[in-house]
Order: sequence, then C-alpha cells, then structure tokens
Amino acid sequence: MKNDNVIGVNDLTKSYGLTLAVDHISFDVKEGEVFGFLGPNGAGKTTTIRMMVGLTQPSSGTALVDGHDILKEPVEVKKTIGLVPETSNLYSELTALDNLIYQSELYGVPRKERKNQAIQLIEEFGLKEHQDKPFQKLSRGLKRRLTIAAALIHHPKILFLDEPTTGLDVMSARGLRKLILDSKKKGLTIFLTTHYIPEAESLCDRIAIIVKGKIRIIDTPENIKSQVKEVEILEVGLDRITEDLKKKLLFMEGIEKILIAENRIRFQTKSIDQVTPHIIKLIEEQGAKIQSINTLSPSLEDAFVTLTGLDSELMKID
Ligand SMILES: Nc1ncnc2c1ncn2[C@@H]1O[C@H](COP(=O)(O)OP(=O)(O)OP(=O)(O)O)[C@@H](O)[C@H]1O
Ligand SMILES: [Mg+2]
Repeated sequence: MKNDNVIGVNDLTKSYGLTLAVDHISFDVKEGEVFGFLGPNGAGKTTTIRMMVGLTQPSSGTALVDGHDILKEPVEVKKTIGLVPETSNLYSELTALDNLIYQSELYGVPRKERKNQAIQLIEEFGLKEHQDKPFQKLSRGLKRRLTIAAALIHHPKILFLDEPTTGLDVMSARGLRKLILDSKKKGLTIFLTTHYIPEAESLCDRIAIIVKGKIRIIDTPENIKSQVKEVEILEVGLDRITEDLKKKLLFMEGIEKILIAENRIRFQTKSIDQVTPHIIKLIEEQGAKIQSINTLSPSLEDAFVTLTGLDSELMKID
C-alpha cells in the first residue's frame, strides 16, 4: 500500500444549534486503504461524511479530499468521490441498468460509453439477471449492491459508504463485504461507517472510534486490541448459574468486568493466575459444575468496551 494521504481532515467541527455533532476531529486516510468510522447511533459518522463530500458546510475546520479543499473546490471533490448514503439515491421506477446509465449521464460520462460501462458494472456486481427489474422490485441486498455500482460509474478514487450492511441479512451482508474488499484490491480507497464491531474488524485497515462527535482512538484493529493486552479473559462454562453465585462473583477482588451469556461467564481481569483458583473454589462451594474453562485474548469488542467505557450492546441497536 502506498503511503500518500488521499484524505486529510483537520479540526473539523459541525454544530446544529446546541448539538455538537462533530467535535474538532482530525485524521488522514491513506491511498488504497479501507478506513472505518466505528461508533454508536448519533456519534457523528454521517455528519462527517456529509461534510467531506460537500453536502453540508463545516462550522469550522478544513479537509482535503484528493488534494482538493472541500470548501474551495467542492466540484473537484465531487468528481473524485463516489457516495453511497444510508438511504439509496436511485430511482424506484427505473430498471437496474437504466439507473446506472442515468447516473453515468449525470456524472458526464460520454454518451457512447454509458451503456457499456453500465453493463460492465452490472456484470462485476453480479446483477445480470436483475438488470431489467425496476429498482423498487429488488431485494434490499441487491438495492445496496446497485447503489454501490452507481457510485462507481465515474471511476472515483475514493468511495464513501455510510453503513453499507445495516439492515441486510447475513448472506447479503457477507456478499457486500466481499465486494468492498474486491474494490479495495482494484485500488479504490474506501471510507466507511459502521456500528458493527466485527465488520470494522474484518474490513478496515484502520479504524477511528467515534463517540459523541469526538474521535477516541485511531489505529489498526490489531493495535487497538493490543492496547488492552493487559486485560485477560477467563471464560468458564457451568451447568447452571444461580443468582447467588452471580452476586458472589461480582464482589470478588481482581475482577474488572463480568459478562454472562447463557451458561458461560466471561471474567475480565488483570491477574488471571491469581483469581482463577478463587473463582473455581467459589463455584464449587456453590454446588455448580464447571463444564469448560478457557483463557482468551481480548477481542476488538473487549477493547472497545474498555477504551470507550460504552456497553457493546449499544452498538447492536439499528
Ligand atoms: N440536520 C440535522 N439537524 C440537527 N441535528 C442533526 C442533524 N443531523 C444530525 N444531527 C445530530 O447530530 C448528531 C450526529 O448525527 P449523525 O447522523 O452524524 O450520527 P451517526 O453517527 O451517523 O448516527 P447513526 O448511527 O444513527 O447513523 C446527532 O445528535 C444528530 O441528532
Ligand atoms: Mg449515520
């Protein structure tokens, strides 16, 4: 991957009345990388995209997109980017193919090339058998696919994807993630937003975690996880978990956090060797049977919880 920055954001801020939607954020995006904005609802993800693509004016701060100032050269910026908003901007009555041809016209693709380009994208995106269906008749996953294809019609250098897989079924989401990675392989730089932690982890070269308009951390998923390396996780599977046992475990020393899922308990601790024998003893005293016991290294989700203090459940709400 080259090291040049194709996006440089400097102290960008947006307020709506008293709401500070985006609060003095700065970051760079390198050419050819997938850069993710990970954050809960209302964090300021969409507002940031809207400022970078010229759909809304920043209250203060600047940004360069492919070398063009978003305030001084908005037209140049629009030529170099493709945008896939949360809600599709395509026409319900037009067919898949006609939507692409129409987009190519809007973007000034020469008349002779429009149909060929549209057909090529239809094929690349696996939409051939759907090309003559009106947009409104397509499934959600196919609609999203076509909207991405449309955003690429003018061969932009940077693609902005706002929550590309939100609301899609598992298979469509998986297909779309593959498409995103294929586009990256072809050299596209991708900026995406998501509130789904595993998605950020599997797609992004680097992630910015954004909460209440502020960037908390920017790094690779690996480095973010290693920031909480000192946290160790012990996972114990039991035949049953009584309320009494839960209460006693919660008050044990050396335990930072407890997560209970069905009959498994995950303990976050910084002194796994010391606390493990105490946990086992307590469980046995309570008459429960241990069915499995494992140590795990922290996931990106564990790191997210530790670094932001937010409940990761918050990220699962659409
Ligand atoms: N046009 C607007 N007028 C007033 N407030 C707005 C406007 N757009 C966004 N906001 C507010 O700015 C904040 C950030 O919103 P934004 O849509 O950028 O968040 P988000 O991270 O994209 O959230 P989501 O995950 O729900 O899409 C929220 O508090 C929101 O209510
Ligand atoms: Mg949004």
